[in-house]
Amino acid sequence: MVTGGMGYIGSHTLVVLIEAGYDVVSIDNLSNSDLNVIGQIEKITGVHVENLNIDLCDVEAVAIAFDKHPDIVGVIHFAAYKAVGESVEHPLMYYRNNLVSLINVIQEVKSRGIPCMVYSSSCTVYGVPDKLPVTELTPLKPAESPYGQTKQMGEQILLDALKGSKTQGVSLRYFNPAGAHPTGLMGESPVNVALNLVPVITETAAGLRDEVVVFGDDYETRDGTCVRDYVHVMDIARAHKLALEAAMAGKLSSPVETINMGIGQGVTVMEVILAFQKTSGVDLNYHIGPARPGDVPAIYADYSKAASLLGWEPKFTIDDIMKTAWVWELKRRKQLT
Ligand code: WQD
Repeated sequence: MVTGGMGYIGSHTLVVLIEAGYDVVSIDNLSNSDLNVIGQIEKITGVHVENLNIDLCDVEAVAIAFDKHPDIVGVIHFAAYKAVGESVEHPLMYYRNNLVSLINVIQEVKSRGIPCMVYSSSCTVYGVPDKLPVTELTPLKPAESPYGQTKQMGEQILLDALKGSKTQGVSLRYFNPAGAHPTGLMGESPVNVALNLVPVITETAAGLRDEVVVFGDDYETRDGTCVRDYVHVMDIARAHKLALEAAMAGKLSSPVETINMGIGQGVTVMEVILAFQKTSGVDLNYHIGPARPGDVPAIYADYSKAASLLGWEPKFTIDDIMKTAWVWELKRRKQLT
């Protein structure tokens, strides 16, 4: 069962699970996604995924959804609001949605003895790290936003709830997910205005925006712009399958394993822009603007735990991210058949 299965990472994970031979079902109330994804997944895999359109904050509705699928062997919980800036403006909406939905799902997983649960966490739980790259043992700092707080609290809730239970938990801390399915048939298609760097770049190149504003260039980094660890959505999707399989095979020791999901390369905003221009051949219109409040100057991952525990290695580079994101943007806007 994949909650948030109609979303960006959820839909790509459904494809990977189907191609690995799993029967899947999605729960998604379409608050930031749409049902076109079902057709896209079917085009890629030939499978028509069932989506249950329910609000995971409605405890009865969640129980009914699980009743409908008594043979669930694993749950991947993606469903959450995830816009850092929006969470600062609407903290209660974020705490209610992200935590109540998680608690309702854990309740069903535990009461039904479902063997494993994978939780979408985030590198925002680290706050501003003192040392780079960050490992899973890097001490957490206060999160920079209510969104990051919900992820820190979510990890703790999962740990407290699964301790002593029959369910093996995994928290995957995503760094910066980006890119699109290599077929160009599916990718990031937020219903709300895209705020992340990569879709802002591709929308600007496609003529949907006038320019990319680079949020600050006087940080203590090699070119003054922020450093992030961009990881292809297909690498992240594959990690979820590996996490489920490691949990089901009893290979994980602690009640909840927390694992970084980044490729260990710090890339600056300017380097992302240059990578896009190089791979697409499109000259991007950008200018340097003021720094964005709450931005972490630099963060990137040490992924050796994912490598040793899950046998995970990233397969896609920043150039692959830009190439697949650009093809998807053009296809999505029907500028490329
Ligand atoms: C990346 C860099 C911006 C837009 C995201 C998710 C968060 C978490 C981590 C999953 C920053 C700069 C951006 C623009 C810019 N992922 N930028 N101009 O803030 O690292 O967080 O990944 O949980 O949920 O939001 O991602 O893409 O917004 O920013 O200069 O128009 O690009 O300052 O340095 P961020 P982002």
